[in-house]
Amino acid sequence: MNSIELMMEEHKHIKRMLGVMRKYCYKVLKNETVDYNDFFKMIDFVRNYADKHHHGKEEMLLFEKMVEELDATAEKLVNVGMMVEHDLGRLHMKELEEALERVIVGDDESKLDVIANAISYTHLLYRHIDKEDKLVYKYGEKNLSKETLEYLDVESNKLEEEATAKGIQEKYLTLIDELEGKL
Ligand SMILES: [Fe+2]
Ligand SMILES: [Fe+2]
Repeated sequence: MNSIELMMEEHKHIKRMLGVMRKYCYKVLKNETVDYNDFFKMIDFVRNYADKHHHGKEEMLLFEKMVEELDATAEKLVNVGMMVEHDLGRLHMKELEEALERVIVGDDESKLDVIANAISYTHLLYRHIDKEDKLVYKYGEKNLSKETLEYLDVESNKLEEEATAKGIQEKYLTLIDELEGKL
């Protein structure tokens, strides 16, 4: 797999977790029993797999090269679009975490903030992933030089191997299975 194919594969895994998040929120809405600890596991997935492992690769490799080598359109797509959305996702996770902490100590109304932030995050990420798959990655693939694309493949493989050695992919892909199994 080249670096772009690899990131598109990661999008599929991330979308599965977005589906889990929505179903958990629906349980909260219906006042069903929910293991709130599972929400913290989802936040861990978002921070360490979707953000650190996946967005890290985008920000340090593909997007960096697109801004460095391509035109103003690429720079706008990356800096005004993708990077801002990565940051907004981080804010939703922080607010979700704070809301969960309030719910756990008995603040029932904060369930609204749990649902609002988790669902907003899923909406944001579905749109974001769709834009990357259909537009941003394609723009990079079409316009970056052959040498740069090769460089991205080599560097992305290195990051992938480092993460494999730490068990990152195994840990978080297993977590998706675990949480889907509880639905
Ligand atoms: Fe992204
Ligand atoms: Fe992405």
